[in-house]
Amino acid sequence: MNHFVFKEKELYCEDVPLRTIAEAVGTPCYIYSAATLLRHFKAFDGAFSGIRHLTCFSMKSNSNLAVIRLFASEGGGVDIVSGGELYRALKAGVCPDKIVYSGVGKTADDLASALEAGILMFNLESYQEMSTLNEAALRKGRKAPVAFRVNPDVDPKTHPYISTGLKKNKFGIGITEAVSYYKAASELGGLHIAGVSCHIGSQLTMVSPFVDALKKVKDLLGALEDEGIKIQILDIGGGLGITYNLEEPPHPGEYADAVKRELSSMNLTLVLEPGRVLVGNAGVLVTKVLYTKKTASKDFFIVDAAMNDLVRPSLYDSYHAIVPLRDPGRDKIKADIVGPICESGDFFARDREIENMRPGEYAAIMSAGAYGFSMSSNYNSRPRPAEVLVKGNEYHVIRARETFEDLVRGETIPRFLLER
Ligand code: LLP
Repeated sequence: MNHFVFKEKELYCEDVPLRTIAEAVGTPCYIYSAATLLRHFKAFDGAFSGIRHLTCFSMKSNSNLAVIRLFASEGGGVDIVSGGELYRALKAGVCPDKIVYSGVGKTADDLASALEAGILMFNLESYQEMSTLNEAALRKGRKAPVAFRVNPDVDPKTHPYISTGLKKNKFGIGITEAVSYYKAASELGGLHIAGVSCHIGSQLTMVSPFVDALKKVKDLLGALEDEGIKIQILDIGGGLGITYNLEEPPHPGEYADAVKRELSSMNLTLVLEPGRVLVGNAGVLVTKVLYTKKTASKDFFIVDAAMNDLVRPSLYDSYHAIVPLRDPGRDKIKADIVGPICESGDFFARDREIENMRPGEYAAIMSAGAYGFSMSSNYNSRPRPAEVLVKGNEYHVIRARETFEDLVRGETIPRFLLER
């Protein structure tokens, strides 16, 4: 069931008209549906029932404490990529033994904090990182549970900026060299070999690249077994795509069946790191039309949200549906929907057929729950927007809109400049 629907020409999130929230909280603001988040988690996690698994939400896609908490209360873990994400995860109440730590450049301090917290697994990506973790573990008298993230060299057929499993990408270690990495790790006193990990890219709309990668990983598991190296956890990353426009990605059930088919005979715990598929279509960014403007060549809707709030269209030229909060389907015009930032790249849509909106009218930029707020910035000294979670007929501000004071927090003018 879709929880963002028009009822009598008014767009609702669950039982709350989006306009009610926009008027009370102001715009721009992100609005998430708790029922949708829950439904997505259950559909994904439930698809893997029958095999030992842990769904670790990839919190870079949406790092709000309330969102993380919602998944954690369903038994989920998280995939983190920084000390900041570890802090948020622990603050949201995620069990440390349900945290996996990915990323190509983890710092010594961040590795030490995660070790202290007692996380499930570190997904290592280089020899140097391996030694850094080993040293930290020896200092603490602990054994750090590790996997290597292997790069299977398969083409995920997605946007080049978000494809990660090709040999030319910076991620992981070459799958052909993996056995020597594992042998080296097994000789270090501070490490305990726990798993193998792999993530090939994001917004995948086909099952086949996942299966191709799994086949290669299976070969590696065989080779490790031959060396007497025992693997308990297989982390297959995230990457399942969603529908923004006309994409037809596989349902989580189809994805899970393909994975289960490949792994049927193996006695492993499967770790999954879904991000976008859980949150992408559970959130929208609500904005207000400030001005309409007609130039010699184009019509523009200038709205109060901008690329600092949602960068995906500017960065990846990605499509997000945009709908007025009231009276959809009325006369349309072709226009660019743009933000107030001083860059031509600050747009949400170009040459889009869209209802002819008036200044003061609200619109929703759809499918903005993943990599929306989490990639926002303060560019042009714009306070970042509020985030709101709807549950039934209630709504809760889960992040207050930033203030101007927030913008300058931590900045100081050195005395030599004050004395002039
Ligand atoms: N695991 C690892 C190691 C990752 O690097 C990522 C995403 C995920 C899991 C989650 O992938 P997902 O299930 O969300 O596809 N900013 C881009 C997406 C970047 C993805 C980065 N890594 C976008 O807005 O499309």
